[in-house]
Amino acid sequence: MVLPNTVVDSSTQELLEAQSHVWNLTFSFINSMCLKSALELGIPDAIHKHNKPITISELADALSIPKSKSHALFRLMRVLVHSKVFAKAEEDAYALTGTSRLLLRDEPMSFTPFILTTTDPIAVGTYDSMTEWFRDECPTPFVTKYGRNVWEFGAHEARWNQLFNKGMTTDSELIGKILARECKHVFEGLETVVDVAGGRGALAKAVAAAFPGMKLVVLDLPQVVDGLQGFENVSFVSGDMFKYVPPADAVILKWILHDWSDEDCLRILENCKEATAAGSGKVIILDMVVDCEKQEHKAIETQLFFDMVMMVGLGGKERTEKEWANLFSMAGFQNYKITPLLGLRSVIEVFPR
Ligand SMILES: C[S@@+](CC[C@H](N)C(=O)[O-])C[C@H]1O[C@@H](n2cnc3c(N)ncnc32)[C@H](O)[C@@H]1O
Repeated sequence: MVLPNTVVDSSTQELLEAQSHVWNLTFSFINSMCLKSALELGIPDAIHKHNKPITISELADALSIPKSKSHALFRLMRVLVHSKVFAKAEEDAYALTGTSRLLLRDEPMSFTPFILTTTDPIAVGTYDSMTEWFRDECPTPFVTKYGRNVWEFGAHEARWNQLFNKGMTTDSELIGKILARECKHVFEGLETVVDVAGGRGALAKAVAAAFPGMKLVVLDLPQVVDGLQGFENVSFVSGDMFKYVPPADAVILKWILHDWSDEDCLRILENCKEATAAGSGKVIILDMVVDCEKQEHKAIETQLFFDMVMMVGLGGKERTEKEWANLFSMAGFQNYKITPLLGLRSVIEVFPR
């Protein structure tokens, strides 16, 4: 029997609400860990393969989970339904949602590699060192924890390097498709473009497919591009963007400047300005513009999470429009245009005049 709610003193109510809030904050990581486990178990693919809503016992069979763990699987699914990763289609059967469709392994723009990178023990472990880092001299908690920065770490740890590059590639495939569909005007009239720190070329490939006459060069570190073959109008150059950016009409910086401090961004932007001096001079930045006033609570929270990822892992930051404008002006650019067409990110075109 459940007793009706009794009226409690308002200070008691406040205390209990505070406790509930603290519990929720404390256990927030469980959402990420349940999502990670669902991906590692292959739950989205199993539901997809089943072709109709799947019951717990069918799901357990499909995943070769013993009967003794069926109830645990039910409890995992209950959390994941609550976080809208899956939906309850019927009383006891589960279906994919728009979110879990993006987690299918064969989905060309699958988010799974990005999630597995950011929830990997290497990435999650850096947060253990955040407090220590506030008191030490290291540039990031990542360095406090692992003794070298994330790029040096990637050059030595093949598994992490592969995981990270795969995570970036799938994100660039998604953004590349959206850019080619929604932002063609950004690339119109450009004959040569360098994707600076362009990873394994996924974005360049999408832009190249949309503009067959354009020549694209992807510049990145040796551990990322060495051994990659160019294709059609895309070629790879291994190098250091702090030293040299090949000349072009325009350059792309996708998810680069948020990795770096203002001082480092200035060096990158100055190299990009020099590289494009003979062409349009345009720099195309794909990054977030943080707006704590205009956006809704969850969007802001996600941008602030990204800002922590940058601080803890890389020593960079997510910037407000004012911070972007300061950076552009310090690097000698006269003008910029923000097009918020990429969800939480924007296309920021920066012009020298
Ligand atoms: C966050 S990832 C973004 C990759 C790609 N632009 C994308 O969005 O898929 C940052 C990239 O910067 C590259 N990088 C880091 N330092 C670099 C440097 N000094 N010169 C060139 N590339 C660098 C990394 O190897 C990595 O591919």
